[in-house]
Amino acid sequence: MPTKSNTLDPAKTSGKTQAATQAQKAEPATTKPRVFSGIQPTNNPHIGNYLGAMRHWAAEQDQYASIFCIVNLHAITLPQDPAELRQNTLSLAAMLLAVGIDPQRAPLFIQSHVSAHAELAWLLNCVSSLGWLNKMHQFKTKAGDDRESATAGLYDYPVLMAADIILYDADLVPVGDDQRQHIELTRNIVERFNERFGETFVLPNPLIRAEGARIMALDDPTRKMSKSEPNGAIFLTDPPSVIKKKIARATTDSERTIEFNPNRPAILNLASIYSLLAQQDHARVEEHFAGKGYKEFKAELTDLLVATLEPIQARYNELMGDAAQLDGLLRAGADRVRPQAEATLARAQTAMGIR
Ligand code: AMP
Ligand code: TRP
Repeated sequence: MPTKSNTLDPAKTSGKTQAATQAQKAEPATTKPRVFSGIQPTNNPHIGNYLGAMRHWAAEQDQYASIFCIVNLHAITLPQDPAELRQNTLSLAAMLLAVGIDPQRAPLFIQSHVSAHAELAWLLNCVSSLGWLNKMHQFKTKAGDDRESATAGLYDYPVLMAADIILYDADLVPVGDDQRQHIELTRNIVERFNERFGETFVLPNPLIRAEGARIMALDDPTRKMSKSEPNGAIFLTDPPSVIKKKIARATTDSERTIEFNPNRPAILNLASIYSLLAQQDHARVEEHFAGKGYKEFKAELTDLLVATLEPIQARYNELMGDAAQLDGLLRAGADRVRPQAEATLARAQTAMGIR
């Protein structure tokens, strides 16, 4: 949990500007911990995104002062078709609203609509070591063997993510387990910046759940469920017939009991999905399936997924029917958060002597 030292003392903050004061007027001061998180508009979100991140964002809107961002500048670090990217951005917004994000309580916006993200990323580049970036697992995975052909944007991805988090003085960043290293990097950047230029940025903490933070692929429980691998993922838009097929094909093992056993990763993954969706603890799930085989388990898991996704899909379809309204909502979200982002950027520029 955030501590007092995480919250900047305004008196100590160097270069507090008029813009910062206006930002405080625009958004009433809050004593709640500040939450920021982002999601990329590539392909469709899946139940890994939902269980690891999205459902917590929706559930904790009252507990935290939350801001959520569709990170399209991150999406273009790999080749994207422009028309598809535009469409994916809108449909992701609809899905975030459909899972329960309430834009009144938690502003929702598109990263490229607030130019301070790209601008702060440049300043942060100038305090980030190549040594730090060279350690990033995600770059290594995404760049693959042909690293020479990877773009500078893909390499710099984590610094842009640090800028996202820092701009909104986030105390907590709710994400899946795969983002842990990026948040550690953000902390390094904040510490180095504050050390060199005086206390300027808030030090964020990751908020990663003990369970659900790493949902594995249905067809290969040694890999995480990923948007780019449709066979291993259940997308939030999958119709019941597709869900049924994917669960029927999901990898199991040669035993027949349902248990939460780390040595049986396929069943552990499926049983965890069941436990999280049904909101039942492990003992209860094991007890429920005692004496039953994979067939019954898979049938119940399918029903549970369909029942969870049906109302979400109904709301999603409704929202997708009015693109103009969605677009207006996203632009209003950007207008709401921009003053705060610009105030933080101004603080950084003043601290660095470029303003
Ligand atoms: P992304 O799709 O990469 O933009 O991720 C959006 C959010 O979902 C981030 O918080 C990720 O850490 C989280 N996430 C992505 N894949 C998984 C997964 N397989 N299990 C749990 N969380 C995930
Ligand atoms: N890199 C994150 C992911 O792939 C997405 C992201 C971008 C993000 N900026 C962020 C998450 C800021 C949290 C906070 O999941």
